[in-house]
Amino acid sequence: MRKTTLITGGAGYIGSHTALQLVEAGRCVLILDNLSNSSRESITRLEQLSHSNIDFIEGDIRDAALLDEIFSTFDIDAVLHFAGLKAVAQSVRRPMEYYANNVVGTLNLCQAMARAHVFNLVFSSSATVYGEPATTPIVEALGTGKPANPYGRSKLMIEELLTDLTLADSRWNIAVLRYFNPIGAHPSGQLGEAPNGQPNNLLPCLTQVAMGLSSALTVYGNDYPTADGTCVRDYIHVLDLAEGHLKALQVLQAEPGLHIWNLGTGIGYSVLQIISGFEDVTGISIPYRFAERRAGDVAECWADAGKAERELGWSAQRDLTQMLIDSWRWQSNNPRGYSAQPAPLLAVGMK
Ligand code: NAD
Ligand code: WQD
Repeated sequence: MRKTTLITGGAGYIGSHTALQLVEAGRCVLILDNLSNSSRESITRLEQLSHSNIDFIEGDIRDAALLDEIFSTFDIDAVLHFAGLKAVAQSVRRPMEYYANNVVGTLNLCQAMARAHVFNLVFSSSATVYGEPATTPIVEALGTGKPANPYGRSKLMIEELLTDLTLADSRWNIAVLRYFNPIGAHPSGQLGEAPNGQPNNLLPCLTQVAMGLSSALTVYGNDYPTADGTCVRDYIHVLDLAEGHLKALQVLQAEPGLHIWNLGTGIGYSVLQIISGFEDVTGISIPYRFAERRAGDVAECWADAGKAERELGWSAQRDLTQMLIDSWRWQSNNPRGYSAQPAPLLAVGMK
């Protein structure tokens, strides 16, 4: 039996891009996803892009019996754990769901891994665990802060749970990857972010305006202590993130213990810079209006990505133009996400 990497949440946005890179690197993968925020079509697209069959199980990480069956059927040597709920506003309204799905789900996964003697885990954490950062760029050594919502607190709880596991049992090798703001899509226009329901993140909201689905972008706050008054974030291409997972997996197996790495570019862009960058790349004008600050937003959040560069030999390679071109190609090709056939490619990269 071939060694297999289990990818929880692998039908989702970041998991699907990472799965593709693993398969392209010659690894055998098994995707487990309950499709609560994704669709089977992403697996079909993965198979088309990789020219191979992808093992996929529709199921939930909270199902202990299913996990035991998976670990006894496949020769799994590592788990990339993307599965989780991630909508910040929804987490405020439905905290129990977020703690049950994210925290209890992760605990359940780790228990099943321990029963199966699989101790290599890469976890999708978030810069949200830093809360309101005292300084930028954010270094891992700064320590965690107070996340502003149940989603962020669920990520912090999981980080603490994973830390305790490695302290209690030296067999655990765990990489905690703190993503900054993932955007972009596969350059084929076939894989991208397709959340169920209304988007809240900047890029999907912006592309909805570009597609005429919404009349203007709401910019939350223009009175922050930043150069133009709007919030600054570290946007990172999803393919760069995916590459970070491959590196983490390699280093993890060679150097046991708990590792924490920021995955960001180290460059911050304001909301207005993103809007004008998008207009430059697509030639589409984006009407916007300023509104009150959004609760829980911090003025600036961008990474010091030096630790990942030194220890993983990884750094983000794709610039903002590439991120915006790929985001727009995906959105304009798949206006309804995976639920409709792709339309012909729109020309991008030209005024
Ligand atoms: P996504 O929603 O596209 O992917 C998550 C996948 O997990 C979905 O396909 C969903 O159906 C699945 N899932 C959810 N709960 C499950 C469960 N109980 N059992 C099985 N499958 C389940 O999200 P994404 O953007 O790809 O994020 C992946 C991970 O990265 C998440 O854990 C998220 O919290 C984290 N993260 C995302 C961002 C971001 O901005 N996208 C930033 C930082 C961290
Ligand atoms: C970016 C900036 C908004 C929409 C979130 C999560 C974080 C992580 C990544 C998972 C902010 C502004 C947005 C809009 C706007 N996810 N904005 N108009 O808030 O930095 O991070 O996603 O872990 O946990 O909190 O990303 O894309 O929502 O916002 O002005 O319609 O764009 O106010 O300044 P955020 P975002």
